[in-house]
Amino acid sequence: MAEQVVIVTGASRGLGAAAARILAGMGARLVINARSEGPLLTLVDEIRAADGQAVAVRGDVSDPAVCRAIVQAALDRFGRLDALVNNAGIIEPIAPLAEATGDAWARNLAVNVIGPVLLTQAALPHLRARAGRVISVSSGAAISPKSGWGAYCAAKAALNQFNAVLALEEPAITAITFRPGVVDTEMQAAIRREGAGKMAEDEHARFVGYFEQGELPPPEVPGRALAALALYAPREWSGEFIRWNEDRVAALVGE
Ligand SMILES: NC(=O)c1ccc[n+]([C@@H]2O[C@H](COP(=O)([O-])OP(=O)(O)OC[C@H]3O[C@@H](n4cnc5c(N)ncnc54)[C@H](OP(=O)(O)O)[C@@H]3O)[C@@H](O)[C@H]2O)c1
Repeated sequence: MAEQVVIVTGASRGLGAAAARILAGMGARLVINARSEGPLLTLVDEIRAADGQAVAVRGDVSDPAVCRAIVQAALDRFGRLDALVNNAGIIEPIAPLAEATGDAWARNLAVNVIGPVLLTQAALPHLRARAGRVISVSSGAAISPKSGWGAYCAAKAALNQFNAVLALEEPAITAITFRPGVVDTEMQAAIRREGAGKMAEDEHARFVGYFEQGELPPPEVPGRALAALALYAPREWSGEFIRWNEDRVAALVGE
């Protein structure tokens, strides 16, 4: 499996960067994407210095031209595509439904839903040819509502249904939505910073408490599960919403 070619979006920091590092360590060849060029290029250098292979495509996943360029980079550089990890995501707007603007909602859905749809469409012909995988990073928020997170909850629920339909329509590939748990990344820092007065007080306090009590795992922990799913998830799991810490995922990581 060492030669598999994998796209990881949102790889400039957090879960995406951790998963990309782990995938490179497992021998995968990578196309990494985010909007911030500096951190992406630093990660490419780091992977190459460790004898791995990676190329960066900077840009916004909600832009169809960027999605086409990401897939083209995989074909130009490596000649094939085995897996797509739709990881890029934003939580904003953190605001009650009565306050959040339509523009902020539209931006959230563009990044969290339309981006993965466009990138999957661009990748599909090449993934079919390799019996490949699409792993879309979702959230518990897809099924468990949180005050102040209306757009994010709706977007992740939509991502789950997108994935379920993808699995129905595309029997040649394996399509999974992934639930990483609560992770120590910039997204959690934004929730602590911006959630006060916008989320219900007890819910905001719970997220602050996870951090203050040292209960947030580093991104490498769910990142290992995400990397294992991208390379090895079996076809029988297609269409499912899978938690990072399920026993069957731990077994996959162990292999
Ligand atoms: N952290 C958690 O507790 C948690 C829990 C459940 C689910 N998740 C999910 O995990 C995924 C990763 O989040 P994270 O926690 O690692 O957050 P993060 O640290 O904020 O990282 C988000 C990544 O997405 C990129 N990104 C944002 N908008 C983009 C766009 N329009 N186009 C391309 N890249 C974009 C960011 O890079 P640039 O800013 O450089 O573009 C960054 O690399 C997300 O889908 C999130 O919803 C996180």
